[in-house]
Amino acid sequence: MTSATQTVEVPVWDAFIRVSHWLLALAVLVDWFTDEPRWMHVWFGYLAAVLVVLRVLWGFAGSGHARFSDFICGPRQVWSYLAGLIQFSSRRYMGHSPAGGAMIVALLIMVAATAGTGMVNLAQDEGAGPLSSVISKVERPARVPGQKRPPLLSKQVHETVANITLLLVILHIGGVVLASFVHKENLAASMITGRKRV
Ligand code: HEM
Repeated sequence: MTSATQTVEVPVWDAFIRVSHWLLALAVLVDWFTDEPRWMHVWFGYLAAVLVVLRVLWGFAGSGHARFSDFICGPRQVWSYLAGLIQFSSRRYMGHSPAGGAMIVALLIMVAATAGTGMVNLAQDEGAGPLSSVISKVERPARVPGQKRPPLLSKQVHETVANITLLLVILHIGGVVLASFVHKENLAASMITGRKRV
C-alpha cells in the first residue's frame, strides 16, 4: 500500500536514451574544448555522429517516450507550452514537452551538421576520414613557419555550425533548469535514473 506522502515513480527513459544522452553530452563538450590532440577531437566527433544516427533510429524503433511520435508537435503547441512556462502555468509532461521535443530535434540536426562539416573539413584539409574517398584534399601552399595559413571555407563553416550547436546546448540546459523549477521536479536526475514521479 502507498501512503499519501510517498512519491510514486514510473520509468520514462529507457537505458539507451540515458546512456546515449550522457555520452552525447560528453562527446559534444570534449569536442568543444579540444582542437588538439587532433585524434581526440576527431574520434569524439565520430562518437557524436554515431549516437545521433542511433538516436534517430531509436525514435522510430524504440518504444514509449523515446518515439518521435510521442514528442514532436506543431509550432503552435511549442509556443503555447513556452508561453505557459514563463507564466509558471504550463502542463507537465511525462515524456518530452513540446518545447523539449523541438529542442531535441534541433540538437540532433545541429550535432549531425557539426560532425558532417567536421568530416568535410578533415577530408579537404588532411585527406583523411570517412569522406576522403568522395571529397579530395585541397592543395595549398606549404606552411611557412610563424605564419598562419588562411583557413579553408569548410573549417569556417564547421566552426560556425559548432557555435550554433553550443548556443542550442546552453538554451537546452536553461530550458531543463526552468522546466524543473516550474514543475517542481529534477529533470536532470530523471535523465540519470530514468524515472519520474507520477
Ligand atoms: C552537450 C550537451 C548536451 C547535449 C548535446 C544534449 C542533448 C540532448 C538530447 C538529444 C536530448 C533528448 C534525449 C532523448 O530523447 O534521446 C536531451 C534531453 C535531456 N537533456 Fe540534454 N544534452 C546535453 C546536456 C545536458 C545537460 C548538461 C543536462 C543537465 C542539466 C541535460 C539534461 C537533459 C534532460 C533533463 C533531458 C530530458 C528533457 C525532458 O525531460 O524533456 N542535458 N538532451
